[in-house]
Amino acid sequence: MSVSIAILAAGQGTRMKSSLPKVLHKISGRPMIWHIIKEAKKLSEDITVVLYHEAKMIRSYLEENFQNLRFHIQDHDNFPGTGGALMGIEFESDKVLVLNGDMPLIQASELEQFLQIDADIVMSVIDLENPHGYGRVIIEDTEVECIVEHKDCGEAELALTTVNAGVYLFTKEVLQKFLPKLSNKNAQKEYYLTDIIGLAKKEGYTIKPIFVQEESFQGVNSKVDLAQAEEIMQDRIKKRWMEEGVIFRLPKTSFIEIDVAFEGECEVESGCVLRGKTLIKKSHIKAHSVVEESQIAFCTIGPFARIRPKSILEDTRIGNFVEVKKSHLKGVKAGHLSYLGDSQIDEGTNIGAGTITCNYDGKEKHQTIIGKNVFVGSDSQLVAPLKIEDDVIIAAGTTLTKDIPKGSLAIARTPLKIVKDFYYKFFGKR
Ligand code: UD1
Ligand code: CA
Repeated sequence: MSVSIAILAAGQGTRMKSSLPKVLHKISGRPMIWHIIKEAKKLSEDITVVLYHEAKMIRSYLEENFQNLRFHIQDHDNFPGTGGALMGIEFESDKVLVLNGDMPLIQASELEQFLQIDADIVMSVIDLENPHGYGRVIIEDTEVECIVEHKDCGEAELALTTVNAGVYLFTKEVLQKFLPKLSNKNAQKEYYLTDIIGLAKKEGYTIKPIFVQEESFQGVNSKVDLAQAEEIMQDRIKKRWMEEGVIFRLPKTSFIEIDVAFEGECEVESGCVLRGKTLIKKSHIKAHSVVEESQIAFCTIGPFARIRPKSILEDTRIGNFVEVKKSHLKGVKAGHLSYLGDSQIDEGTNIGAGTITCNYDGKEKHQTIIGKNVFVGSDSQLVAPLKIEDDVIIAAGTTLTKDIPKGSLAIARTPLKIVKDFYYKFFGKR
C-alpha cells in the first residue's frame, strides 16, 4: 500500500531553551529530524516536511542530506497548531501518515503496523504513569471517541493515563473533509489536529487506537528529554554492532555516533568516542580513545589516542597521547606522545615519542611526507613542508627543516659538553 507522509516541524520548541531550532538538536551525531526522515524514507517517497520557525535553516540542512523531500511552509500566523500544519498540503496517496520532527526514536517497522490496520484513522496511544502535558484519549469498545488536550481537560479527564502519542494514519478523505472544519476555540487558540478525531467519530468514521512503545514514541521537548532519547539511541546502536560481532567493554561508557560502521571483528574498550562517518575494520580501539570521521583498518589505537577527521590508518599502531589529523599512515608505529598532522607515512616507519609535525606556519598548513622504514628519533620536530625519503634515520631531538634523501642520517644537535666536577663547584661539597 502506498502512503504519503507529513512530518510536522513548524513549532518553535520553546521548552528546549535554545537558539538552535528543536528538530536540529542532535541525537547520536544527527539532528532529530534526520532520524525520523531516515525511517520515513523506508516507507514512502512522498514526504512533506512542514516548517515555519527557522524554516530556512532546517530546509537547507535537509536539502543537503536528503533527496526528493517536499517542503510546506505553514500559515502559522493565521492557522497555528498541529491542525494548521496540515492545511494546504497536496498528498499523492490515499493514506497519510503524520509524524513529528521531534520523535527521533520511532522505527520504520513500528510505523508499518499502522498500515496494516483497516480504519479511517489509526492513532498511536500510550499508557503513561505521568500523562502530564499529553492529550488524553477517550476509548470506548476498542474505538477512539475523542482526544482532549491537557490544557482543556476537566478533572475526570486529567486522571486518564491513556494518551495520544502524536502519530496518526488518516485517509486523505478524512483530512480533506475535516481540516477545514477545525476551530481554534480552545485554551491555546490553536487549530488542533486532534480535534479531527471527535469530528470524524460523530460522522461515523472508524478510528482505531494502536498501543505503541513509549521507548520509541516519546517526544523530545526539553534537554532532559534529549539526554534520555540519546541513551536509548546509544543502546540501540551498540546492541546492533554487538550483534554484528563487535566487542564492547562496558558499552554504556562509550559514545558511538549513528554514521560509524564496523567491519569484521573489532573491539572497543571502555570510554571511547567514535564520531562522524568513521569506518573501523578489524581493529582494536583501546580505552578512552576518540576517533572522528576516519578510516581505520587492521589497527590498534590507544589507550588515550585522538584520531581527528580525514585520517586513513592501515596496519598501524597508535599509542597513548598520540594525535593524528588528516593523515594517511600505512604500516606505521607511533607509540607515544606525538602530533601527526597533514602527513603521509609509509610502511615500516617508526615514529619516536614526542615527534611533532609542525604543519602550520601561522598562515598555511603544509604536508609532511615520510617514506618506508624511516626511524624518527624521539623529540623530533618535522617542519613542513617536508619530505623524508625511504631508509632514513632521524636522530633524537632533531629539528628538520630540509628534505632528507634516501638512506641518510639527519642529526641537528648542539654538541654535548661534559664539565667534570662542575656540580661540586656550583653547590659545594655535600
Ligand atoms: C501534541 C498533541 C497531543 C499529544 C502530543 C504527543 C495536538 C494538539 N496535541 O501535543 O495530543 O499528546 O503531541 O507528543 O496535536 N507543530 C507544527 N505546527 C504548529 C504546532 C506544532 O508543525 O503550529 C509541530 C511541532 O513542531 C511538533 C509537533 O507538531 O513537531 C507537535 O507539536 P507540539 O507543540 O510538541 O505538540 P504537543 O503540545 O506536544
Ligand atoms: Ca511534543
